[in-house]
Order: sequence, then structure tokens, then C-alpha cells
Amino acid sequence: MTWQQGRPRVCAHRGGAGLAPENTLAACRQALALGVRWLEVDVRYTADGVPVLLHDETVDRTTDGHGPVRQLRFAQVRQLDAGSWFGPAFRGERVPSLEEFFGLLADTPEAGAYVEVKEEGEEGNRLAQEVLELAGRGGLNHRVRLASFSPEPLQRARELHPRVVRVALQEPFDFTDPVRFVQDRKAQVWGPYHRAVTEERVRALHRRGVGVYAWTVNDPAEALHLRRLGLGGHPEDAVATDFPDRFLAAQEGRG
Ligand code: G3P
Ligand code: CA
Repeated sequence: MTWQQGRPRVCAHRGGAGLAPENTLAACRQALALGVRWLEVDVRYTADGVPVLLHDETVDRTTDGHGPVRQLRFAQVRQLDAGSWFGPAFRGERVPSLEEFFGLLADTPEAGAYVEVKEEGEEGNRLAQEVLELAGRGGLNHRVRLASFSPEPLQRARELHPRVVRVALQEPFDFTDPVRFVQDRKAQVWGPYHRAVTEERVRALHRRGVGVYAWTVNDPAEALHLRRLGLGGHPEDAVATDFPDRFLAAQEGRG
């Protein structure tokens, strides 16, 4: 078996976190320029309620600032350098708003995105709603996959836009049976850590019309292993990687 046969989607995790500063437009543009068609980004609220692309609760690791993003206003977050920590070539890169990210997506008709809602509870509900409203305004709902570890955003997305594809992310140490996990959340895609994928699970989920989105796979040999377990047999099957270049090389430059 080769990677090309019935291959799952290749998705640039955090915009391709191994190649550029994660969750920035520079990373996303670079991944798209490489030929990647799917991007994964994380979304959180600033203090004044602006959805921005950021993985951690604080800005410390990925910018030159400090503190929880929920205590910083958007104008303050915009002052931060989100690129230098990764390398001098990215100096001055900003934390993007979700709106800016969707602007990039709107300008790239062949691209789609997994938007992971990092807020929980009532904030998660509100953010899921806002993600879908913003995506809808840009005519992007068919190109957006709404992902979350929390059940609330998935449920709100289902109530508002039942046809938007929802990815139920499962924590590595949550041993709930995946079929039950996905059914409880009424999601169309299961999103496990890649080591949780087994042939039996893939078969059981595919039989029920559920896709599998495995994260984060940085070794193409691991991805080929997933392929052997049946990943690629459903149109929503995907692997998220920090190094999309490695996968594109393995499949002759196509995402
Ligand atoms: O796409 C799911 C994956 O991104 C979850 O892990 O911590 O990188 O958001 P994390
Ligand atoms: Ca994520």
C-alpha cells in the first residue's frame, strides 16, 4: 500500500506548526503555498470578546507578551509579536483574529479549515455560534469543520447549523468507546490522538458513516500505518500534521 491510495486529507495542524509560528496567517499562507488544502487553527476569546487564533490560555509561549489572553483586550494582543519566538524571518507577525483567518480562507476557494473551539461551557457555546456566523457571512460553512474537546460547542453548532461537519475531539486518556463518544456528541467525525486509532475502531465508525480525523501525525510512516488501519475509507478521514511538507513530498506535491 502507498500513501496515495485512498489517502486521508492532509491538514496543516495549527497552520503547520513545525514550519512557521503556529496559528498565524504566515503559517497558513505558507501551508497553502505548499499545496495544503486544509488548515487547523485554535480559537479563543480576548478580554473584549474578539475570537483570535491562539492555542494556549496565555500568550506567553507563542508571543513576546505575558498573561491569559482572556485578560488582554484585542488592541493589546495586536501589539504582541507572535513570530520572533519561532524565527527572525517571522518577526512582527501578529495574532490573527478569526475574521482575518476567514478572510484568507475566502480568498482561497480550494481551502478548508478545522476550527477548534478552545472555550468551554457558555463561552464555548457563544464562540461556536460566532464561528459559524462568521463562516456563514463569508459563505464558508461548507469548508469549515467545527472541532472541540468540549461537548457544548458541538451541540450548539448542531442546533444552529446541523449540516456543518462537527469533529468530536477525544483526549488521549479518555477511554470511552469511540462509537459511544461520537454518538453522545452527535458528531460526524471522531478526532482522536493518532495512537488511539485501531482497525476495529475505524471499521466500526465507518460502518456508521462517521469519519476519523487523527492528530498529530508528524512521521509519514505513522500516517501510512493509519492508512493500513483503514483511514482514507471515508471522505472526512484526515490526518493533522505540523509538517505538511513531509506528506506532500510523499504524495507528489498534492494536498
Ligand atoms: O486537531 C486537534 C488537535 O489540534 C488537538 O490538540 O492541543 O494541538 O489543540 P491541540
Ligand atoms: Ca488544535
